[in-house]
Amino acid sequence: MVVLGDEDMPGDNENIILEVKDLKMWFPVRKGLLSKPEYVKAVNNVSFSIKKGETLALVGESGSGKTTLGKTVLRLYEPSEGSIIFDGKDISHLTEKELRWFRKRAQMIYQDPYESLNPYYKVYDILDEVLISNGITDKEERSERILSVLDRVGLTPPSEYIKKYPHMLSGGQRQRVAIARAIILNPDFIVADEPVSMLDASIRAQILYLLREFRESYGITLLYITHDLATTKYFSDRIAVMYAGRLIEVGKTREILGNPFHPYTQALIEAVPDPDPQNRLKLRGTPPGEPPNLINPPPGCPFNPRCPKKLDICEKEVPELIEVSPGRKVACHLYRT
Ligand SMILES: Nc1ncnc2c1ncn2[C@@H]1O[C@H](COP(=O)(O)OP(=O)(O)OP(=O)(O)O)[C@@H](O)[C@H]1O
Ligand code: SF4
Ligand SMILES: [Mg+2]
Repeated sequence: MVVLGDEDMPGDNENIILEVKDLKMWFPVRKGLLSKPEYVKAVNNVSFSIKKGETLALVGESGSGKTTLGKTVLRLYEPSEGSIIFDGKDISHLTEKELRWFRKRAQMIYQDPYESLNPYYKVYDILDEVLISNGITDKEERSERILSVLDRVGLTPPSEYIKKYPHMLSGGQRQRVAIARAIILNPDFIVADEPVSMLDASIRAQILYLLREFRESYGITLLYITHDLATTKYFSDRIAVMYAGRLIEVGKTREILGNPFHPYTQALIEAVPDPDPQNRLKLRGTPPGEPPNLINPPPGCPFNPRCPKKLDICEKEVPELIEVSPGRKVACHLYRT
């Protein structure tokens, strides 16, 4: 695991692989053909950075904008506003042709491996397609790389798996193929969007272990999107908590899980007295109340209709994400200085 210092330490910028500033991804929706569009503010003024080799977990309840943020930083969407800097280069508005180098270096693993793999392609062709579309013309080299990557993801003997179609594999095997596809070009950065949520509990740990192994062996940087706060404990260096399109708390994993500051994060994590430190964390998952509508979020702090600690100002001003201790940022009026 990477040992992290203060995010804003001078001279540390060269270690940052991804920097996102004031990012917005607003989707236009129209009620009628002639009506003015309204916007689903799925990502709304988000700023954060990730260091090389680091795993940042992005957590938050359904509809908070996690997948949209992951896809936008991978430039599967063009952002409405703000910037995405990858390895020092601004990729926010590059064309698909200009993004070719980036496509090799950054990959996505989706929640549902069945949907993300072409059902008409055998495993060999799924992987071969990635190599061909990235200019690897030598057939023998492609074949070697395909067999080697299948071996690395534990699909052995590879000769047995190359002939199979996705429907002939188990959920865990399919996610291994999806991981093989993501790592075959030796990327630097992967967005893993709930990679184990569709799998049986018994297989989840194996797949997370595999991802952790790659991260450690190849120094891959990961944005790990999850509902499951429990897995962040073993898997991520830092956590970013997302609510209604905004980041509302960012910090080291053990600090956030051990002492959440934001009332929303506190509602997700409930510490219970237990002599065994392994059992002290009780994860509630979802706080009471409904998440806001992202077309017309409540004025001020988007969490205010559900917040037990709300102040007068909370309905008037959106709290900014500010640093409250080294490396720890919170967007809540309770922490205003
Ligand atoms: N292409 C799109 N067009 C319009 N609205 C969209 C689009 N994609 C996502 N949204 C909306 O943006 C909001 C955020 O969706 P997103 O899928 O990013 O959330 P999420 O946090 O990943 O949720 P989940 O945990 O359920 O996967 C939702 O209100 C969703 O309906
Ligand atoms: S800003 Fe106000 S409403 Fe929002 S989380 Fe903090 S106390 Fe609650
Ligand atoms: Mg999602």
